[in-house]
Amino acid sequence: MNLSILTFVCLLLASPRFCLGLNEGDATQIFPVDRVAPFKFTIIGGVFLQDDPATNDTSFEYTRTNLGLIDRPYPTDPEFDPEHKKTQWQRFEHYVHTLNDGSPRDVAYKVFFIGRHGQGVHNIAESYYGTPEWDRHWSKLDGIPEVTWADPELTELGILQAVGARNFWASALTNASIPAPGAYFVSPLIRCLETARLTFGALDLPRDRPFKPVVKELLREVLGVHTCDRRSSLSTILERYPDYTAEKGFTEEDELWRPDVRETDEEMTARLTKFLNDVFCKERAIFVSLTGHGGSTAAILRAVGHRVFRLQTGAVLPVLVEAESVGGFAARGKEGPEFFEGWPVVKAWSP
Ligand SMILES: *[C@@H]1O[C@H](CO)[C@@H](O)[C@H](O)[C@H]1NC(C)=O
Ligand SMILES: *[C@@H]1O[C@H](CO)[C@@H](O)[C@H](O)[C@H]1NC(C)=O
Repeated sequence: MNLSILTFVCLLLASPRFCLGLNEGDATQIFPVDRVAPFKFTIIGGVFLQDDPATNDTSFEYTRTNLGLIDRPYPTDPEFDPEHKKTQWQRFEHYVHTLNDGSPRDVAYKVFFIGRHGQGVHNIAESYYGTPEWDRHWSKLDGIPEVTWADPELTELGILQAVGARNFWASALTNASIPAPGAYFVSPLIRCLETARLTFGALDLPRDRPFKPVVKELLREVLGVHTCDRRSSLSTILERYPDYTAEKGFTEEDELWRPDVRETDEEMTARLTKFLNDVFCKERAIFVSLTGHGGSTAAILRAVGHRVFRLQTGAVLPVLVEAESVGGFAARGKEGPEFFEGWPVVKAWSP
């Protein structure tokens, strides 16, 4: 591990103990699992079909099911919609706002629209070689002379899937009054940057909620070994996506990917837990779009206690998450920013 990675990890965690630990030779863990910061996350069930154990994740079609929103009453309906004129999404949106307004300052609720990138070149390569051979050999190469799968592009199908997501959103915004996301977070891998652009870039969005994507390092796919999960430099990303913003602290080069160590599920759950902490701490928007990967989605679901739901390429999965501070910290939107000072995760990601 070189000095800059060490510095990065120490900054990230602001934990002298962890840095000492590294010096003692404990250098294989990329994100230590014992530092997951102050929020406890719980999934609120009974709202989306996808968290019902009876729902088949292989055959589920989000575009035909209103994104899985269950047609049900909410305790806030009598006051909000006495004449039964609102859409399901409007009643749900009002309910979630009411939950937030009525909760103590250390409890907050957010709805994440978790999108997986459309099919990438690497997905085809993995199917072609079979997962064991892909993992053993081919995933470690940048590609073959005819095809590159290092930080891969979307395939034709992947592009169609992203356009399908755009069509779903266009229809849901117009016909179902689905709340447009108030924030967009995107993994730095090209397949996600492109999927988000194709999905949201040309949508007719409300003026107060434009598509202003922020590139988040922690939202990326499993770290290490596979070249499809090694990101491009920040300059390359911004050259291709000049409208995107990188979060503060985002490094020019990929300092997390290593050719010899593949991140474990446990480490990844800890990393995505850290990501959720970061979002709940800094982001005021209640409805938040995340564009990521199969692995990052699985890790978010583990982090919030959601059932396993294997998201198909290009598909979208909504979750309603309750965050309760276990360290006395307020969730964003409950208090001013000064309240967050002293929380190591926040300090590490602030200038
Ligand atoms: C889920 O759907 C897939 C694809 O349609 C099907 O092959 C599988 O048998 C289903 N699983 C269950 C448990 O019904
Ligand atoms: C809204 O629904 C109508 C009627 O079902 C349909 O014709 C129209 O195309 C839909 N709008 C969008 C943007 O999909």
